[in-house]
Formats: sequence, structure tokens, C-alpha cells
Amino acid sequence: MAQFPLADRLAALPPYLFAEIDRVKQEVKARGVDIISLGIGDPDMPTPDFIIEALHAAAKKPINHQYPSYRGLLGFRQAVAAWYKVRFGVDLSPEKEVVSLIGSKEGIAHFPLAFINPGDLALVCTPNYPVYNVAVGFCGGTVKYLPLTSDNNFLPDLDAVDNDTWKKAKLLFINYPNNPTSATADRAFYERVVEKAREFNVIVLHDAAYTEVYFNPAKKPMSILEIPGAKDVAIEFHSLSKTYNMTGWRIGMAVGNETLVNGLGKIKENVDSGIFQAVQEAGIAALQQGEPYAEKFRAIYRERRDVMLQALDKAGIGYRKSDASFYVWCNVPKGYTSAEFCTNVLQKTGVVVTPGNGFGAPGEGYFRISLTVDMPLLEEAVSRIIKL
Ligand code: MLT
Repeated sequence: MAQFPLADRLAALPPYLFAEIDRVKQEVKARGVDIISLGIGDPDMPTPDFIIEALHAAAKKPINHQYPSYRGLLGFRQAVAAWYKVRFGVDLSPEKEVVSLIGSKEGIAHFPLAFINPGDLALVCTPNYPVYNVAVGFCGGTVKYLPLTSDNNFLPDLDAVDNDTWKKAKLLFINYPNNPTSATADRAFYERVVEKAREFNVIVLHDAAYTEVYFNPAKKPMSILEIPGAKDVAIEFHSLSKTYNMTGWRIGMAVGNETLVNGLGKIKENVDSGIFQAVQEAGIAALQQGEPYAEKFRAIYRERRDVMLQALDKAGIGYRKSDASFYVWCNVPKGYTSAEFCTNVLQKTGVVVTPGNGFGAPGEGYFRISLTVDMPLLEEAVSRIIKL
């Protein structure tokens, strides 16, 4: 029998967090346990009808059945630029500063291929979306983790990184509103990031997937591109997934510095052939007409968050009160590790929550709840957790 050992880069990896959660969930489900999953940030509400109707109309056009354009329909990129102007006051050239993505995960995973050589250093704020460090590892790069802790309000302490490390670093990953901690960043933080990155010639990759899930309209999450000079160093990744309940559609965008956008575009020309144009036309509709729906979804997540926080209070479980994202970052009760606690909750209640250490070492002692089930299910999950 032939032997096909995995390449070292893959053999060295732990199982992908969300695939592993899904595997365990299926295993427990097969034992007849009634599962409620608060484990993955996959919006439960349907994609709004007007987006589905736009897809339907676009899918009927034969022109959309051919290979799409590599970097995205110009109309999609124009819609992205127009949305950025309205939402953030940021001007973008649709031709040069926007590229379409098959979901922001794909773009983030491919981006380091364009700029990271073996041995290059990337700075990753952690706990983090696991794709950041994996993508750097796939390029043979090394990672220095910048811990996000409650002491620093889950923002990296950029001044604690010494100048030699800044000089070596090629790429810094940041992500606000943050997954998994739900922390948000203010203008002063982004200004500091841009200042450091310009001083040391470091690329900033801002994962901004959750900017539209916010609960305080007076403090809307920012784009890093709002900061003067950010376009010298930054590329921002966005997605239609969380804003318009389109996770399965696989559509997102990267915007910002022309050289960075172009580098990613070149990688993508070599590895994929773009997004089905009908999906892009639906994406245009979402970006142009989706705001009232995004507003409605925010109100629903806010209500869910409040129900969950009350339940956590009753259960005596500590948490970080979030202003944005649909995650609640909670303290694991004393006497458990993150993994022990989440396994216990799953086995005894059928409720899936995510162990904080799955996002990196500083996540130990925490677990993450995703508010992506409807109210009756959420209330059921809450009552099971309180009983436990
Ligand atoms: C999460 O649960 O962290 C997200 O759903 C992962 C993702 O967006 O791929």
C-alpha cells in the first residue's frame, strides 16, 4: 500500500478549530443528545429576500455563467468603494484599491503568500482567528504573538514590542471588533498602529469582518483606512457574511494600499478564478440596499446579548460586556480549564460553546458564546447552562 505522508506544514497543524467543534458536535448528536450550537459565528437568520431575488435574476443571465473576472466585477468593486465612502468616509479606487474575495477567510489565508518569504516574521494579536498564524506558517514565516488580555482591554501593547522585533516584522494582524473577545478599538489605537507600521515599514492586515455588528451607534466601529496615512501600510478585509447573513455565499473584499491589493490579486489570479458573477450582482444589491436589514439584525443580536448577559449573571459566570460582534467572551468558572469546561457543558447540556484556548494560549481561562441561534433556542440554552 502506498504511503502518502502529509507535508510537514500540514502535519504540524492541530485540527482546524471549527472543523473540530463540528466533528465533536456530530459525535454527541449521534448519541441522541439534543444539541444547541453556540460554537461558531454563523448567522442563523436567512439572507434577506431582496438579495436572493437579485441572485435569481443574475443567475438567469447567460453572461454570468462564464468565468468571472479575476479581481471582481467592476460593478461589485464600485459598490464596495461607494459603501466605504458612505460608511467610513474613505475614498477608494475601485480599479486599484479593491479586490473581490471568495469570503474574507480565503483572502486572509492567501495574503501572506504575496508578501511573506520563508523565515519572515509576522506579529499576530492573540487569541485570534486561527487562519492568521496558519497562513503565515504555510509560507514558512514565523509568528510572534502579541497577547490580548483583560489588563490591556484586549488591545495589543505595541510599545511592549522591542524595536528589533518591529524592524524584523513584515506583517501585523489586527482584528476589531475582535473575534473572539468582542473588544473594539478606538481611533487612538488605530493611529498608533499606523504610526508604528509607517515607522518600521510593516504591513497591517486589518480583519474588519464584524464592523457592522455593533450595538452603540454613537461608537460605530472604524475602518483603519479612516486614519490619515493608513493607505501607506494597510489592507483591510471585509465580508458580506456577518453583515447580511451570507456566510455560505462566499463573498468578501480586500481594500486599501494599492500594492498590497495588487499582490493579493496576483496570488488569486494564480489560484482561483473569482466569484460566480451572479453572487457578485447579489453582493452589489446587498451593499446598496442592505443597511435597513443590517440595522434589524443588530437589534436582534443586541437583544440576544442582553438575554445572555442576564443569564450569565444568574449563573455567576463572569464576562466581557460587548459593544460589537455577536460573541460573548466569558470567564471559565474556577476549577476547570477552558477545554474541560466546554466539554462538560456539551456532555451535560448539549450546548456547544468554544474553548478560549482554541484561539491561542491567552484564551485559556475563557470560553466564547456565539449569539447565532434564535431567541427560543437561546433561552433553552441559557436555562440548561443555569441548571448546570
Ligand atoms: C467563528 O466562529 O469564529 C467564525 O465563524 C469563523 C469564520 O468566520 O470563519
